[in-house]
Formats: sequence, C-alpha cells, structure tokens
Amino acid sequence: MRKGKRILVTSALPYANGAVHLGHLAGAYLPADVFVRYQRAKKRDVVYICGSDEHGVPITIAAEKRGVTPQALVDQYRKDNLESFLKFGMSFDHYSGTSSGKHHEMAQEFFLKLHEKGYLSEKTISQFYCAHDKMYLADRYVEGECPHCHAPGARGDQCDSCGRSLDQIELIEPYCVICKNKPTIRETTHWFINLHDNQQAIKTWLGKKKNWKDNVKNFCYGLLKSGLEDRSITRDLKWGVQVPLKDYEDKVMYVWFDAPIGYISFTVEWANKIGDPEAWKKYWMDDDSELIHFLAKDNIVFHSIIWPLMLMGHGDYILPDEIPANEYLTLEGEKFSTSKDYAVWLNDYLKRFEPDPLRYCLAVNAPETKDSDFSWKDFQARNNNELADILGNFINRTLTFVAKNFEGRMPECGQLNDLDQQMLQKLNAAPARIGDLLEKFELRKAVTEFMDLARFANKYFNDATPWLTAKSDRDRCATTMHMCCRVCASLAVLMAPLIPYSAQKLWNILNQSGTVQECHWDEAADVLIEPGHVFNEIEILFNKIEDEVIEEEIAKLKRKLEGSKDTMSDKITFDDFKKVDLRVAKVLEAERVEKADKLLKLKIDLGNETRQIVAGIAKHYAPEDIIGKQIVVVANLEPATIRGVESNGMLLAASDKDSDSLTVVTLDTESKPGIRIS
Ligand code: 2FM
Ligand code: ZN
Repeated sequence: MRKGKRILVTSALPYANGAVHLGHLAGAYLPADVFVRYQRAKKRDVVYICGSDEHGVPITIAAEKRGVTPQALVDQYRKDNLESFLKFGMSFDHYSGTSSGKHHEMAQEFFLKLHEKGYLSEKTISQFYCAHDKMYLADRYVEGECPHCHAPGARGDQCDSCGRSLDQIELIEPYCVICKNKPTIRETTHWFINLHDNQQAIKTWLGKKKNWKDNVKNFCYGLLKSGLEDRSITRDLKWGVQVPLKDYEDKVMYVWFDAPIGYISFTVEWANKIGDPEAWKKYWMDDDSELIHFLAKDNIVFHSIIWPLMLMGHGDYILPDEIPANEYLTLEGEKFSTSKDYAVWLNDYLKRFEPDPLRYCLAVNAPETKDSDFSWKDFQARNNNELADILGNFINRTLTFVAKNFEGRMPECGQLNDLDQQMLQKLNAAPARIGDLLEKFELRKAVTEFMDLARFANKYFNDATPWLTAKSDRDRCATTMHMCCRVCASLAVLMAPLIPYSAQKLWNILNQSGTVQECHWDEAADVLIEPGHVFNEIEILFNKIEDEVIEEEIAKLKRKLEGSKDTMSDKITFDDFKKVDLRVAKVLEAERVEKADKLLKLKIDLGNETRQIVAGIAKHYAPEDIIGKQIVVVANLEPATIRGVESNGMLLAASDKDSDSLTVVTLDTESKPGIRIS
C-alpha cells in the first residue's frame, strides 16, 4: 500500500542541449511512466511532472558553438525531446523547462528563503578568469590536465577519465575553452549551501529510509561517511536564474541548485494549466502526499542529500519519499557516448520501429540493481520470441479460433474443469502479483510475471485442445475459449502501463468501449466481456523483426565505434617522411574567406618568399589571434584552390573531432621564417 492520499512523480529533468537516447529512457523515464500509468489504473491521485533542465555551462557552450542564443537552443531541444517522448508513450501531466518565468520566480523565492533562514553562507574563492573573453571560467569553461590521473581535457568540475570531481584551480596547464588562452586566477565571492553544518539532519532523515533500494542507500551512506562539504550554488555567468541579492545581480544560480526547484515550479504551472491554481499545494505541502523522484545513479547525490536539505531549509514543502534510482544501461557492451555519437537516439529508433517493443525490452532488462546492456539481438529476440511468439501468439490464436468457430463472438462459459480452474487461479492472482512488484519499483520482475501469465495461457490453450473439443464437445470448447477471451481482455488491462499502444490495439480488436486505461487495475481479472459480444477484425499486434534490419543497426553502431577509434596510420619509411618539406613560417596577415565560415586566408612569410595559404581554422581562431604567430607549414604541397581561393601550402594543427577543438601548431621561441623542420 502506498503511504499517502496522492502521489507526485517526477523524472530527472533532461538537459536541453542534446537528444534523448535509450540509456536515458531506461534510467529515469520508462520506469516512471510505467509506474504512473499503473497508479492511474489503480485510480490513485497521481501527477507526473517533468521538463527540461535549461541552464548550465554545457548549454551556453553548445549554443556558442552553433552560433545561436541559449534560449533558442533550449527551446528547440525542449520541443524535439518532448515530441520523441510523447511518441514513445510518455504520459507526463506537464512538461516544461527551467527557463520559464514561473521557474525563475520560484527559484529566486527559494534562494531568498534559504538565505533568510541561515542555510547559505558567502565565501570568497579563487577562480580562473580569462582576460581575453573577460569572464570567470565557471565549471566546463576551463579544461586542463587532471591533477589525479593526468588525463588531458579534464573539465573544471570533473575529470571524465577518472570520474573525480575537481576544484578547477587544481587543473594542470589550464586553458579557456573558448579562446584556448591560459587563464589567470582571481578572487570572486559566491554563495554556498551549508551541507557541513547540517550533516546530522540529513543523516537522521536518511536513516528513516530503510526500504530504499540498496544501491541508493549505499551511495548515500558512503557520502555521509566521508563527510559533507558546503557546495557553491552561484556562478559568474549570464545564463541562468539571477541571484536575487543586492550586489550579486551579475551572478546566477548553479544549475543544480535551480533545476530541482523545477519539480515545484512545473507543478504550479500544471495547476494553472488545469484551471485549478491552488491544486499544486496539496502535492507539495500536505504530509499525506508522496513524492517520488525517478532518476539515474549520477543524480543520486543531488536528490538524496542536497535537494532534501534545500527542502528542509525552505520548510514549506514535503521531502522526497522515494528515490528509485537506476544504474546505467550500456549499449552492445560499451558505454553510451554523446560526444562520439555512440548511442541509439530515440528519434532515430522511432523512425524505424514501434515504441512498444522498446518499452518492453528496456523494462525487462532495466538496470535496476546493476548495470545492464541493450543489444539489438536481444531486442530482436525479446520482440520475436516473447512479444510475438508468446503474447501475440496467444491472442492471435484465440481470436482466430473464435472467429472461425464462434462467429467472432464471446463464447458462453459452462462448467469449469481442473484446467480452467488453474487458469482462473493464475489469472485472479495476476493483478495483485504484478501490482505489488510495480509498487516496489521492481519493474523487471513485474514484466516477467506478466509474460508468465501469457505463457501459462498458451499452455492452457494447448492442454485444453479446443481444436479437438470443437468437434467432440462444443460446450467444453466454448468454455475453454470463453476463458481464453477473458484472459485476452485481462492481458490488455495488465499490459497497458507497459506497452500502452498494443494494449489499446487489443482493446479495440476486442471491441471494448472507451480506452483500456479507464479500466480499474483491480478489476483486470474480472469477466470484462459478456457472452455473445462481437469482436472486431483481428490485427497482428507484434510484427517480427527480420535479421537484416537488426544487422543494419548493429553495423551502424560498429561504424560509430570504429570511427571514434583513431587508429594509427600505416608505417612509412624515412625516405617517405623526407619528402615532406616542413618549414617555419610567420603569419603576416589573416582574413576571413567570404561565404566560407570555416576558412581563414593567411599571408605567410617563408623567408625568401611570401605566400598565401587557406586554413580551416576560422571557427577556432579569429584573424587577429593568429597574426604574428610562428607556425609550421607543409611547404611543398601542390597548390590547390579552396572555395575559389588559391592555397599554396598547409599549416599543421592538432584537431580533436570529439571535443571539436583545434590548436594550430606554433613555435614558442622566435625562429627565422623559412627554416626547415625535421
Ligand atoms: O543529469 C541530468 O540530466 C540533469 N539535467 C538532471 C536534473 S534533475 C533535477 F534535479 F532537475
Ligand atoms: Zn578565453
């Protein structure tokens, strides 16, 4: 039984700087949607809130790269992601975004309340400052070598190689990600949330969460054991929610501070949308409400420690009751990687396949207690061998038989024999068995239990041999088929939270009125169809997926993986190398090439001659950044005409396609233009 009178469910707010992939779905979205649909079928008062997370440095960097405003970027992704989510069957009651006016207003109110109640303190810290771009380099605006594992390209807040969080000023050889210059250190004042002084309160609260999933509890206890440190909640940035304090107007809140407040501000928006502006209050301010946050493991610390402390500090709202966080999904045994495009994107998936097979496959394989893997072969097998061959087959053989032998009408039920009784028992137990597992967030087991019912029904059909009794004992045959049709209707109700499109399709074939979701879960095993009721034409619920289709998808992923592995070129001889005439050159002039936004036209001094070369560096260097630099050129390259401009040589540069960075090779001591490099 659930705790309260009503439930507020949220899924972690996806960042609005990228598309949604299967890893996201398996973590925070599909499990929440199945849970919510099930609660609606139980006729509970449940509201499901989500929206996009639209602040933070990755968003401004992505917008800068594309030459659009952050607002335009987030508007586009919010729209695109919502569209894919809806096609996938996500049933949010409201989906918004944290750049909305209501959100800014509530985040500011929240901040002021914490400030007023002494949960925040001000500290002066050292931060990198880029003199060229005239800004503090918050979070990912600065990169450098990781001080722990020495990997290059560690970001100001975290090293992706060793996973450690960093204090940016520890970075070795730091550089500004916009202009690549070395930043200086400056002092700046920021607001921090007092985690250190409130550890005990958090510990006491967490201590009561005995029934939480082990992965979540262990993670929290680990953090508490090593001690909590205050976290800064403001940034020197322009994009975000403005800090509502005098003398701090030029700072914004840290994205992780404002984002969870979105759960509240979006509920307020939802209440306005349904024309009952006060309705949000009972979900957030009444102890008889239950608050459930679905998320993936990288978000646990924010939802189990920082957000609860924010809520404790604010005082008007309830705290999370459940945080059913999932582990990660891998893809064909490898990590999803957005930067390498190693992912199956939901919008691509939906161009080729139906939503339900994916919902089924991700649910049965959900990374609930440990990481799990999505593979196309498994997807095919789940679709063909389970959805089509077990569930689809039972429904199809039942309805085909009834069409042929009972004029497509619900047969009468006669005396039940042992086999019928066993089927009935299994059916009667199913709603509670599946329901109990869903209540406990055990989606995998719930799905298995559901499929077991379909498997049992197939066995019942086989054992009852209606194709024989059709000739020998018509009443017996009618009773068997009555039972099979009854099970079909029950399966429609029980599958609705998981595979809603197929459930509705079946409901329509059974010629039932309204939508399958209107049916009460607890009545799923009842006789839902009267004898004599006429069914509609049969349609296939699950089509088999052919090998070629799956092979194509596997090949696509392989190409992505191989493309991202930069393998060394074949060996060359020293004589081959000697053919390349590398020279020092000094850049005398530089200008952009009209209608070619990647190109700069350079005039270079090669000692005895000046030359013109064209270089694809305009996205990374302004003309004035490169003038005067000593560069390295391949001097004996055949001339070429690039976009109508003659290029007489080529400069050397290090480029990293993954991070879209490029650095021209320059000499750091003055050399004579024209001298040979070997
Ligand atoms: O990790 C993420 O994708 C974050 N955007 C989740 C935010 S959840 C919340 F608190 F809003
Ligand atoms: Zn800079």
